[in-house]
Amino acid sequence: MSEGIISGRKKMTVMERGMVIEPLSKATLKGALETIKDAFPEEETEQVEFLSFSLSPKRKSLFNHLEFFVLIKDGSVIGVMGFGALRYEPEDIAWILYPAIRRSDQRHGQGTVLLGELVERARASGVKRLFADTSTESDDLGAKIFYGKAGFVRVGCIKPYFDDGSGLEYWMKEL
Ligand SMILES: CC(C)(COP(=O)(O)OP(=O)(O)OC[C@H]1O[C@@H](n2cnc3c(N)ncnc32)[C@H](O)[C@@H]1OP(=O)(O)O)[C@@H](O)C(=O)NCCC(=O)NCCS
Repeated sequence: MSEGIISGRKKMTVMERGMVIEPLSKATLKGALETIKDAFPEEETEQVEFLSFSLSPKRKSLFNHLEFFVLIKDGSVIGVMGFGALRYEPEDIAWILYPAIRRSDQRHGQGTVLLGELVERARASGVKRLFADTSTESDDLGAKIFYGKAGFVRVGCIKPYFDDGSGLEYWMKEL
């Protein structure tokens, strides 16, 4: 893996096999939203606002952190992941937001690469504790294995939490 320099600032990480990780931009917003919709088919549309907020300095000022990154393969967005925290939260924490790899590209290590890059970017932004939320539902088991392999540990659960009685689980990685 090698790092590229754009406009004098470290912005882009160039990887093997024609893959690039870069901060979300207006140019990649549509592909990022399509990727989230593909990975989370039942998700509502609030993520549209979330991602757009990160591109708006005014809206972004509501957050301590709000950064999204896209993984581009052969010119198309195949992965999205962000970290963010609202203003009322401690400055050194952030939450992983919308970790999504297109279904056709899952289980090829891309999520792990994107998460690794996100961890580095979060650390560079002063984040010391990075949280991920999942659920106790069986379809989140894969995500929990994914986080566990990346060094996250389960730190809590609120159950019942969702309408169907399932619980909300919190995972954390110290950076
Ligand atoms: C979760 C997600 C981002 C992981 O990205 P990915 O590129 O598929 O993950 P990786 O290939 O890097 O997986 C690394 C390891 O995590 C585990 N893992 C990942 N997805 C898994 C799944 N669905 N089931 C079981 N284990 C899984 C595996 O151990 C995997 O290693 P292996 O393939 O060598 O066995 C991606 O699968 C995704 O977008 N899922 C749908 C959205 C989602 O559930 N997001 C998380 C919400 S909490």
